Amino acid sequence: MPPAPLSRSGKSRRTTDSPITYFIKKALETPGLVSFAAGLVDEGSLPVDEVRAAATEILSDPRAGQTALQYGSTHGMPELRRQVLDLVCGLDGVNPSDLNLTPNDVCITTGSQQLLYLLGEVMFDPGDIVISEAPSYFVYHSLLQSHGAEVLTVPMDEHGMDVDALDALLDRLRRSGDLPRVKVIYTVDYFQNPTGLTLSLERRKRLVEIAKRYSTAHRILILEDAAYRELKFSGPDLPSIKSFDPANEFVVYTSTFSKPCAPGLKTGYAILPPDVLAPILHLKGSHDFGSTNLSQHLLSRMMASGAYQAHAEKLRTVYRNKRDLMLSALESEFRDFPAARWTVPDGGFYVWFTLDGVDTGPNGPLVPAALEAGVLYVPGEFGHVPDANGHMPKNECRLCYGVATEPEITEGIRRLRKACAAVAAGKPKKEPVGV
Ligand SMILES: Cc1ncc(COP(=O)(O)O)c(C=O)c1O
Repeated sequence: MPPAPLSRSGKSRRTTDSPITYFIKKALETPGLVSFAAGLVDEGSLPVDEVRAAATEILSDPRAGQTALQYGSTHGMPELRRQVLDLVCGLDGVNPSDLNLTPNDVCITTGSQQLLYLLGEVMFDPGDIVISEAPSYFVYHSLLQSHGAEVLTVPMDEHGMDVDALDALLDRLRRSGDLPRVKVIYTVDYFQNPTGLTLSLERRKRLVEIAKRYSTAHRILILEDAAYRELKFSGPDLPSIKSFDPANEFVVYTSTFSKPCAPGLKTGYAILPPDVLAPILHLKGSHDFGSTNLSQHLLSRMMASGAYQAHAEKLRTVYRNKRDLMLSALESEFRDFPAARWTVPDGGFYVWFTLDGVDTGPNGPLVPAALEAGVLYVPGEFGHVPDANGHMPKNECRLCYGVATEPEITEGIRRLRKACAAVAAGKPKKEPVGV
């Protein structure tokens, strides 16, 4: 007799596999495929020597080695918290005290993903509302689905989230009596995943002003996901949204060492208002009572020696070259393809590619055509949430130049052009992938 069925929690039942899993699997099992799909970092520039040097230093000193191999604290290594605060305030050109911050306002997490999850646990009951820009980081949307939160979106333009549209949406919610359900406004404000777009200076200030203005019944938090901030290779230096929150009340700033250093260290951090931090730490205590201590010690050493900063500087050149290569390949392959346009990121690793009139989704013609040509992208619809009528844009692609090698970037765009030409000519008629 088969066992009786499991009685899973509501949260587990709301949690599904990420739609991108199929694409990652496809990339891994198809030899010769150029993948612009997975948002992975450049392999060749991972800081093997720098991490080895830091590990040798730590482990050659028995006392330091023992400390690093012991449990750490839930809050995170004090020295690393201080270094993180100096790093972020340095980027903002302020002193921690200007923003009412001390290292106690910093929390070290298991990647910034853990912070996104824990903040969700702290803030959302099923039915609560998160407002995000459209499109947005689709893994965050999946996480919100687990928490039962509803995602409402506002559009983006070349200056990032449209804050007038945000203001109008909040006003509508106020008038319909739904404002109390709004808990968080989420933005990936530097070189966004998936569009590569950046929030302008003027909109950074407005965002804080808007969150404050609508925080009547309770505080609406801004979740500033600055995951790609340190990978800036062109454009102006923009202060964080956090820097416009001098009393440390409205903005949760999160970032990560995954992009400017190594995702294998899986270490992220957040700077938060004290009444958000305290419940996060309680939950984190139940999750893991502290992120990997050895990774924190390695990062702290690399920051102290300057190896981290030098490495991040090197990466900016690596990714600038890759971006330039992708843009010039797009320019030469799609010059005579009027349906195609794309963004020009100032950092990070994503170009957002729009193809008027072509269904780029998993059940449309471009995915199988691209696979046949030997290239893979992430369908843009994964970053959107359907509107009230179930509609969302279906003619966009996320192209990641992070992990592809330089020759692969040129070749991959050539293949993408081949696939687009095949679709435009009405070929191929292969089965949709049906994810
Ligand atoms: C926008 C954004 N936020 C957060 C993360 C989480 O990264 P990690 O948990 O490695 O810090 C990612 C990873 O790709 C991301 O793209």
